[in-house]
Amino acid sequence: MNTVTVQASKTYEVKIGSGLLDTIGQELSRIAKGKVMVITDETVAPLYLGRVYRSLTQAGFTVYTSSVPSGEGSKDLKYYVNLLELVAEKQLTRSDTLIALGGGVVGDLTGFVAASYLRGIRFVQIPTTLLAMVDSSVGGKTAVNLRAGKNLAGAFHQPSLVLCDPSLLDTLEEDVFRAGCAEVLKTAILFDRELFAHLREKTLNFDREWVITRCIQWKRDIVCADEFDRGQRQLLNLGHTVGHAIEALTEYDTPHGYAVAVGCCIIARAFSQDQEEIVDCFRAFGLPTDSYFSAKVLAGAALSDKKRQGDTITIVVPTAIGDCKLRSIPISELETVIKVGLTHE
Ligand code: GLY
Repeated sequence: MNTVTVQASKTYEVKIGSGLLDTIGQELSRIAKGKVMVITDETVAPLYLGRVYRSLTQAGFTVYTSSVPSGEGSKDLKYYVNLLELVAEKQLTRSDTLIALGGGVVGDLTGFVAASYLRGIRFVQIPTTLLAMVDSSVGGKTAVNLRAGKNLAGAFHQPSLVLCDPSLLDTLEEDVFRAGCAEVLKTAILFDRELFAHLREKTLNFDREWVITRCIQWKRDIVCADEFDRGQRQLLNLGHTVGHAIEALTEYDTPHGYAVAVGCCIIARAFSQDQEEIVDCFRAFGLPTDSYFSAKVLAGAALSDKKRQGDTITIVVPTAIGDCKLRSIPISELETVIKVGLTHE
């Protein structure tokens, strides 16, 4: 088992190891007692909720559970309000705990409920997808979507503990696993040639515990340096300007990781000396590397995203693997950048 300690506005441990799911009761009892509400989704509940419930009750917790439908549609004000009402009805207090058992949607939704109920109560993340393990469960970004766009209502609220159990990935559908691989590749391109080399050699058979730990260490470093996303943390948006545009243009039918894969490849073709290696690696993981949308359409959708600041937009430029920088460009240049990165224009 590996432990990564995050020292942000709150200090907490991220534990990574197979079998950790069944230790949630013991782990939580080191930092909390009282009531717990486990929030999960309808895919994860039949697989893992029973084990979590058992471990928590054996450790003496009073446990409530709630399940939302699977998918991005649950990252919505309706589910957020329902959960707040439920938590209030069960009379949870500031000494009680919410647990997010699921992927990014459940983590972001539960985190925002925890951030706002009683102006903030403790929450724990048990990510069940690769994407949630390496990215969304660590760092305290919580949110729901609004009609105007993704993640537009939210808060920074750090978890008190994150338990990553790679054996949970065994039940993940292959396309969901691949989608998580896009964020893993993104981390390698941003910071880590050695990680990239391992992924290139092993592709989908990479060493899960080692890779997840390495990605979390990088995420920890970024979050500790820039918890509130004013500078360096924006590096984690590599591939996301175009990625978010593709998600919006396809009405969120394209999984986030697939859209990020395309975004990383377009920006790599536009800027990176290692563009061939990067695109080949995404391809080797079975991820898409190009978009059928035109540069004009992609730029238009990207510019309605919240990362635009007045007349400029900050993009992440992957000069080489392990060497990426933030660059602010005039919004009028974005279409040209995307055009260079597409293969069909
Ligand atoms: N998922 C990007 C971040 O945590 O900043």
